[in-house]
Amino acid sequence: MKAIRWTAYGEPEVLRLMSVDKPRPNSAEVLIKVHATTVTVGDCRLRSLRVPRGMEFATRLVFGITKPRCLIPGMHFSGEVTEVGSQVNGFKVGDRVFGSTGMKLGANAEYVCMAADKEMVGIPDTLSHEDAVSLIFGGLTALYFLRDKVNIKHGEHVLINGGSGSVGSAAIQIAKYYGATVSAICSANNQSLVRSLGADDVIDYTKKDFSEKHGKYDVILDTVGNFSFAHCQKLMTKTGRAILINVGIGTLLRSIFTKKLICGTASETKEALYFLLKLVQTGKFVPVIDRVYPLEGIRDAHSYVDSGRKKGNIVISLVDNIPQVS
Ligand SMILES: NC(=O)c1ccc[n+]([C@@H]2O[C@H](COP(=O)([O-])OP(=O)(O)OC[C@H]3O[C@@H](n4cnc5c(N)ncnc54)[C@H](OP(=O)(O)O)[C@@H]3O)[C@@H](O)[C@H]2O)c1
Repeated sequence: MKAIRWTAYGEPEVLRLMSVDKPRPNSAEVLIKVHATTVTVGDCRLRSLRVPRGMEFATRLVFGITKPRCLIPGMHFSGEVTEVGSQVNGFKVGDRVFGSTGMKLGANAEYVCMAADKEMVGIPDTLSHEDAVSLIFGGLTALYFLRDKVNIKHGEHVLINGGSGSVGSAAIQIAKYYGATVSAICSANNQSLVRSLGADDVIDYTKKDFSEKHGKYDVILDTVGNFSFAHCQKLMTKTGRAILINVGIGTLLRSIFTKKLICGTASETKEALYFLLKLVQTGKFVPVIDRVYPLEGIRDAHSYVDSGRKKGNIVISLVDNIPQVS
């Protein structure tokens, strides 16, 4: 099968398209023919080891000290089940599924094996593989922090810094689903996008006085990494909570002892995948896709994500008709 391989951390050039053996599922796994996968900021941070301050050693411990342990990158997939292990219940050949391989990686390939009890669920025929795979990164992150960690409530005012990214575009829609008022920070270029996702108020980050102009917030979600907790405290209500998802080890440790500061890593669950599917099917959530690349274009996809300018999500399509970059 065709797959992306990497044997070193570094620039996008470490990624190579190769022909490798097709994986074989064990008795508890299914084999999936991947139709669409993604390149996320997480994939690029891991590739380059450009991780938040103090996190490099932990990242190397998990993924490989001197070079990546898992030889095929990529975490998210949407595709079709082609083989089922003897002990698997709940999936059959031909099922359309999407999910996350998590720290095992391996999704940037024509086939991937997944344990049936891990983060993978069926998708309806009406949902494209490109849309399905684009739900995962931002959708799971926004749901985890807004719903599970801060229990966002109807009528609360949420400030989302980085509203046009994968996490921000999902967070706007999830906050609106829970009845919040949303102010989103983005550049002038992305104002119409974030408004179309439901933002009530859009703030151009090149204007420095937005905090005075826009008052106090019940929840602040910073996806960009340029808000400190001290800055958030000035913008927050007395019961406000700050979610900083792009912070170094110091802020992360502080969050253990500070109730109003929420950091950490989003968890991935089957329940959350089902929840996102329900939102999409009821028209409450629209995944944002910026560009679609063929597997051969993986280096270009990584370079574009590295630029920090993408809107929403980047998809790698493995269907036969190779799509063009828009
Ligand atoms: N802790 C966790 O569990 C977790 C989970 C997922 C992601 N993350 C982290 O969350 C961060 C965001 O991920 P993402 O995928 O959403 O990023 P992304 O899609 O790459 O974000 C790109 C967007 O950010 C906007 N942007 C850049 N600078 C900005 C600024 N100063 N103010 C406002 N917007 C700005 C860009 O818009 P313009 O081009 O208009 O500037 C672009 O649309 C990453 O650092 C990632 O590692 C953490």
